[in-house]
Amino acid sequence: MSSSSAVVATTAADDKFSRLPEIAKPVSYDIHLKPCLKTFKCKGNETIVVDVTASTDYLKLHSSEIDINSIQVKLCDGSELKGVTFELDRKWMTLTIKLPQKIEPQTVNLLIDFDAEHNNKMRGFYQSVYKGSDGSEKYLVSTQFESTYARLSFPCWDEPVYKAKFDITLEVDEKLTALSNMNVVSEKSTENGTKVVKYGTTPLMSSYLVAFAVGEFEYIEAKTKNGCPVRVYTVHGKKELGTYALDLAVKAIDYYNEWFNIDYPLPKCDLIAIPDFSMGAMENWGLVTYREVALLVDPAKTSSRQRMYVALVVAHELAHFWFGDLATMKWWNGLWLKEGFASFMEYLFTAKHCPEFEIWVHFVNDEWASGMGLDCLRSSHPIEVTIDNPNELDEIYDSITYAKSNSVIRMLYHYLTEPVFQDGLRRYLKKFSYNNAETQDLWDCFSEASGQDIGKMMSTWTKQMGFPIVKVDQKIDGEKRILKLSQNRFLADGGKDESNPSWLVPITITSQSSPVEPIFRGIMNASEQEFTVENVKPGDWIKVNSGTAGFYRVQYDDEMLKALLPAVESLALPVLDRFGIANDLFALVKSGKATADQFLSLVAASSNENEYVVWGALDGGVGSLLNVFSRHEDASIKKKLEEFVIKVYSPVLKRVGWEPSANESMKTSMLRALVISRLTRVGHQATIDVAREKFRDHIDNKKELNPDLRGVIYGTIARKDGNEGIEKICKIFETVGFSEVERNCIAALGQASDEALLKHVYDYGIKQGKIRSQDLVTLFAGSRFHSVGQDYAWSFFKQNVPLLLEKFGSVNSSLFQHCFSCAVDSQSNLQFADEVEKFCKEQFDADALKVLHRPIAQATECVKLNSQLLKNNAQAVNNYLSNQ
Ligand code: BES
Ligand code: ZN
Repeated sequence: MSSSSAVVATTAADDKFSRLPEIAKPVSYDIHLKPCLKTFKCKGNETIVVDVTASTDYLKLHSSEIDINSIQVKLCDGSELKGVTFELDRKWMTLTIKLPQKIEPQTVNLLIDFDAEHNNKMRGFYQSVYKGSDGSEKYLVSTQFESTYARLSFPCWDEPVYKAKFDITLEVDEKLTALSNMNVVSEKSTENGTKVVKYGTTPLMSSYLVAFAVGEFEYIEAKTKNGCPVRVYTVHGKKELGTYALDLAVKAIDYYNEWFNIDYPLPKCDLIAIPDFSMGAMENWGLVTYREVALLVDPAKTSSRQRMYVALVVAHELAHFWFGDLATMKWWNGLWLKEGFASFMEYLFTAKHCPEFEIWVHFVNDEWASGMGLDCLRSSHPIEVTIDNPNELDEIYDSITYAKSNSVIRMLYHYLTEPVFQDGLRRYLKKFSYNNAETQDLWDCFSEASGQDIGKMMSTWTKQMGFPIVKVDQKIDGEKRILKLSQNRFLADGGKDESNPSWLVPITITSQSSPVEPIFRGIMNASEQEFTVENVKPGDWIKVNSGTAGFYRVQYDDEMLKALLPAVESLALPVLDRFGIANDLFALVKSGKATADQFLSLVAASSNENEYVVWGALDGGVGSLLNVFSRHEDASIKKKLEEFVIKVYSPVLKRVGWEPSANESMKTSMLRALVISRLTRVGHQATIDVAREKFRDHIDNKKELNPDLRGVIYGTIARKDGNEGIEKICKIFETVGFSEVERNCIAALGQASDEALLKHVYDYGIKQGKIRSQDLVTLFAGSRFHSVGQDYAWSFFKQNVPLLLEKFGSVNSSLFQHCFSCAVDSQSNLQFADEVEKFCKEQFDADALKVLHRPIAQATECVKLNSQLLKNNAQAVNNYLSNQ
């Protein structure tokens, strides 16, 4: 190729981020790449057909960590522009091509020859390493481009609005399998032991969805009703573990084809398990990439929770084929559009196709409560968040973008009913197929479908942060209930949001004689409002927010709560409502609006409770109390709390037993794990002894552990059996070869009981690199289990920031940020929060602090709240427990 470019590389960067200028857009890319799994260099060239839309003397696109060899610009008449130069901006990852003269709007061809690299940072076109079946070290390369990493693999207009068609050609060693979004259209061997694989042209799509994977793979295949081949790819020896996901993937595509009324437009669909992966999974159109743990199921080893997770993740990514891939957000502030809806659709699908999970019951704990857990902080953010700089994007892939979005969509779904909701979505997808949209576009489609102004209601939930607590007082007037409702932002610190936000709140009410079907529906559209509910017998309880479908908390007056509690105890209230009451009550305790003894009485009264999810809410509160009291100067309170827990939890364990009964439900199995976990952690000797016995049988007699109890048993051994226990867990970790078990081991190692052992474990996992970077969060998370672990995790983090950054690439990495949060947010004293803030200010430069600003604020706010929980309740808890 004749090179007409001179290199003018620069690091001088503009200080302010701006999007690519609207002077040109790509129409199509013809990309040739030659990845190498030995040198980890990737040679490439591309021809981009560019529609120049304004008179200009430059073109600007993205490129990062790529060596550009030459650039040619060919005008529409076929002539080549002479004297083209270019400039790279490292900070903003852009490539500016300077033309020798102004050109008028026309279509030009841009030819770029370049060399890129396969890094080991799980972004771009990166390398992944694993042990082959012969024990040797093997490599593969695959991609993670969302949000801003396609530009690490080839120069491109790397913003979601620039949809183009992609023609991909990969030249690889002939023994390897090479995959991309589309089907293979030709494959030619060369003389030097490689093959050139060309794929079909993609539909119009955004650059963040382009994908490649090259390595020694095997696969299993099935077909959808339309005959579309669906495959699950794995490294050698693991394909059978894809059986569960494959079956669901086929069902999901069939389901969405019908539900969205648009057929999946690509000729094939591959799902591939990648050994090193920063996220859970990624929805590349036609080639979805997954962590192994998110795709592979071993019937003998996979736990109930993990199987559920696999179903949800498979369904989530495939929903993106429509929501995200076909219709895409214009800019990253619309990220929630695709993530929220894919998250909701994953439940809709799973509820239908995996009824054994009772997935909507889990929703309230895993999504609703998790969204509220973050959104009750002052350092939360609105769902529709301004994204000025995509370098700061990773931090908003959080419980607001996922769990809160998902929950407010569920609220809308209940409000509109499924047919109207579906009609709105179908309109939206049809209108914006192969195109980009904004949040308001979606509301408009729902408004058309429902005849109501949906944007008006939903914007109160997506444009402002936080959510309301609805206070309820009642007057009884014969068979009438006059309810006085007021709404305020719920803040975990119990304070007031001075901006006085208010929401359009869907109010639903059930009663003693109609505990499931609401007897009242209305919209609260003021800060105080009265509603009259007819036909309620004077002594009957009433429950607001039926099925915990609304994204708000409820605070009843004393009398109403008193009337409700017997219905909680007798299980007359449906499970989601019992969950809501328990979860709301502990949140009120945390915020100082109720006292811990009220919550502990509810726990004590829950002896009949058999529902996992309700115990999830109760145990969440119990865990928080145990955690903060573990640092209280009066150690006797923690002791009493532990005795209380043993008294209340033991009967539940007795009921469910250690051994599963025939045809037992998943939730019973999960409840068993929850109760055993807590009992071992509060030092219940009989339970610890059985856990040890099971572990011994597992090691000595190779007896498989019950997968649902494996994590709990490993944790007990790691905490209780010192060096010997840790060594045994390490041995399992090194030999088991199955991701979920490895992660159980890592979580257990993080729980090691003293500083010396923790040092050993962190050195082993991080310094010696025995634990994959993708799994390090699990180690830090394990150390949250007790105060010694918490202290160690923070001191390790503090001393090893450069090492962690080396592993994760940069402070942008959500894995890095999660390690930080885990190392901080369970602590409970104010000086500690100050220390963290001070440390961060000294450790990170201004750019890094911008990125880390929210994670730091959130983690330290959690610490302050823990401290407040302790301070507010020490007396009440002590008094309550002393009288037990
Ligand atoms: N698009 C995301 C993956 C992603 C997240 C890429 C952040 C880049 C930055 C994908 O669809 C996703 O949401 N994955 C989830 C799993 C899902 C079941 C919630 C994940 O990775 O955790
Ligand atoms: Zn997603």
